[in-house]
Amino acid sequence: MSALEPSDAPPVPASDKTTLAGLLRPIAADMERVQSVLAEITQSPAAYVEGLVAHVRGFGGKKLRPALVILSGRAVAPGGVGDVHARVGAVVELIHSATLVHDDILDGAMIRRMRPTLHSIEGEEISVLLGDFLLASAYAEAAALEDNLASRYLSKVTRIVCQGEMLQIHNRGNLELTLESYLEIIEKKTAVLYAASCECGARYAGGDAAAVSALHDYGMGLGMAFQIVDDVLDLVGDEAVVGKSLGTDLARCKLTLPIIHFLRTAPSERAAEVRAILSEGRGAEEAGRIRAAVIANGSVEHAMEDARRRIGAAIDGLAAPAPSDTRDVLAALAQYTLARRR
Ligand code: IPE
Ligand code: IPE
Ligand code: MG
Ligand code: MG
Repeated sequence: MSALEPSDAPPVPASDKTTLAGLLRPIAADMERVQSVLAEITQSPAAYVEGLVAHVRGFGGKKLRPALVILSGRAVAPGGVGDVHARVGAVVELIHSATLVHDDILDGAMIRRMRPTLHSIEGEEISVLLGDFLLASAYAEAAALEDNLASRYLSKVTRIVCQGEMLQIHNRGNLELTLESYLEIIEKKTAVLYAASCECGARYAGGDAAAVSALHDYGMGLGMAFQIVDDVLDLVGDEAVVGKSLGTDLARCKLTLPIIHFLRTAPSERAAEVRAILSEGRGAEEAGRIRAAVIANGSVEHAMEDARRRIGAAIDGLAAPAPSDTRDVLAALAQYTLARRR
């Protein structure tokens, strides 16, 4: 399906807009196509490497980034999207998955997508290389597309993501991390890939400048809120539900929005206590105490309010493209980001 093809997807029933599966049902066929492109472009003649890739694909993940490529395309071209959307969707998902394989080494995380992390089974050397293999597979696919939009744009975006992760590591243990620096880190490591997914979806569907810009900004706002919620979940989420190791931010002394707010606004004695715990590297042991203090100070609520504000702005910014069922799904997906538990 190289040309734009008509969609026979039914509108999303209102009752289904609360679950991710329900939200993505109208694009299920597109997402299956993404899945088969993913399998195709990560093939390896070495059975051992195939096994590693299969492990990472494993439980699957939420696949939000490819979903945004498809939905942004459909929002611009309500008649349907082309094969290129499935291919670009697979590329952004692979870039994301590669960063997770590397991120889990950096964070010392043991669980990802309900499974043991690759480095916890195969070691760090193999995981570094598998992450590289996934990235190279993504670029090979992007470079094989008819034009170079995706390969140029997404390689730049990956450079930014890596810089975000490096800035984060550089600031581990920095108890003076400012709000501005935190926002810069999450924009780079997370939000730019969301923005790029939306922008690529719109561009490959032939969107005009207003629609492309609106979808880019929507993706950026969604991505910022997504990471803020992720940082809240790292502090107060349920590992069995989220399906990944939590508490790594405190364990590694990575300051996130709730903690930054707490250190700034809590009564000085309480703030000094948490500051001492973190600077002595006892964040993991004292996680329960820190969590309780941060919640009691209203700092988790503050972070969620910040995320809500960003999601509100992202939805309001969707004035272009024209109203459609797909645009409604984009708005509902933004709301889901706030309510998500995994
Ligand atoms: C996790 O992303 C990394 C962050 C940017 C917080 P997701 O929560 O989208 O991960 P999967 O793909 O669903 O596992
Ligand atoms: C990492 O952020 C996001 C990436 C770009 C890899 P986190 O470290 O918060 O992601 P999780 O919590 O491990 O999924
Ligand atoms: Mg991590
Ligand atoms: Mg996290």
